[in-house]
Amino acid sequence: MADGGEADPLLLSSRASPALEDVGPGAAVAAMLLNVGLLVLLCLVAYKLYVRWWERPSARGAARDAQAASLPKMKRRDFTLEQLREYDGAAANNSRILMAVNGKVFDVTKGSKFYGPEGPYGIFAGRDASRGLATFCLDKDALRDEYDDLSDLNAVQMESVREWEMQIKEKYDYVGRLLKPGEEPSEYTDEEDTKDHTKQD
Ligand code: HEM
Repeated sequence: MADGGEADPLLLSSRASPALEDVGPGAAVAAMLLNVGLLVLLCLVAYKLYVRWWERPSARGAARDAQAASLPKMKRRDFTLEQLREYDGAAANNSRILMAVNGKVFDVTKGSKFYGPEGPYGIFAGRDASRGLATFCLDKDALRDEYDDLSDLNAVQMESVREWEMQIKEKYDYVGRLLKPGEEPSEYTDEEDTKDHTKQD
């Protein structure tokens, strides 16, 4: 044969899977449309999965928010660490969520999408969140199980705790103080207390 018997292996392989310019403009357009179609399909599947994933927690969240809205405002009172732990929003009979920051207890129930069991900051529910907020850490180890006097935190971290306290105070109801070990709770004489005492008289 005139063009020789030995075929160039590279040439062979390029013929085995023809390049787009070899198959004509019609086939190239078809291939491009196929790619675009596949991409659209992929986006659709991803979107459907995202919507399905997002809807479930938001339905749960809506139920929780409705429950939170129906709770009466909490009477002012102080809490020991143990008493605070009862308000982590996880118990079926108690959806109220309290969180302490810098020695003050706030009712964060209306923020249950943050502090509820599935929320990103659920670790702070029913706890003294100060150390976690000061160190910007959400690990379990960021919080202490016993009373935390925060005495080892540096000035910047303490300033951060105070800033968080201001932010939380802006949004949520203050309920009372977090008691140090052995400290007695205060007797509050707010409007509700006064009404109750009047009833007893
Ligand atoms: C990359 C990491 C983080 C991102 C992207 C992020 C994002 C956000 C956003 C967007 C909000 C505002 C939500 C809203 O008001 O609708 C928020 C609030 C908040 N974040 Fe984060 N955050 C991060 C890490 C952290 C960490 C490490 C902590 C604590 C240690 C933290 C504690 C909080 C708290 C306490 C709130 C206030 C929630 C409330 O309004 O009650 N965040 N975060």
